[in-house]
Amino acid sequence: MNKLTVFLLGFIALNTIASNASANELFAKADLAAGKALHEKNCIACHASSYGGDGSAIYTRDFTKVTSAKGLVTQVRNCNTNLGLKWFEEDELNVAAHLNQTYYKFEK
Ligand code: HEC
Repeated sequence: MNKLTVFLLGFIALNTIASNASANELFAKADLAAGKALHEKNCIACHASSYGGDGSAIYTRDFTKVTSAKGLVTQVRNCNTNLGLKWFEEDELNVAAHLNQTYYKFEK
């Protein structure tokens, strides 16, 4: 095998491991209370203005785009970037963990 093949196989293996990470592993160090507070401060008002109530209907709608814990982190990251909140990765994980515990309940 040449170096490129070894590199590509390593890359594929790593990605496979990462995409199989369980929600428990992903959110092992998450601070749920911090995630809840950040979410209340930055995220609810806009969702509530388009979805009514406390805005949480956006997370429980039938056609959710989010299908895994990892996908949830990605979605939170995209919102963070789009909104220019400059959150750290830790903040994204805390908010995703809070949303998972409260609404999505993904195990994977
Ligand atoms: C300016 C308005 C606005 C703000 C602020 C906002 N969102 Fe959203 N969010 C939306 C809209 C609109 C959608 C639906 C997008 C779509 O359907 O493609 C969405 C969708 C989502 C979803 C996917 C819901 C699902 O299951 O399909 C998540 C998760 C989410 N937002 C998280 C956040 C987080 C976390 C924050 C705070 C950092 C945030 N949003 C702030 C407007 C906003």
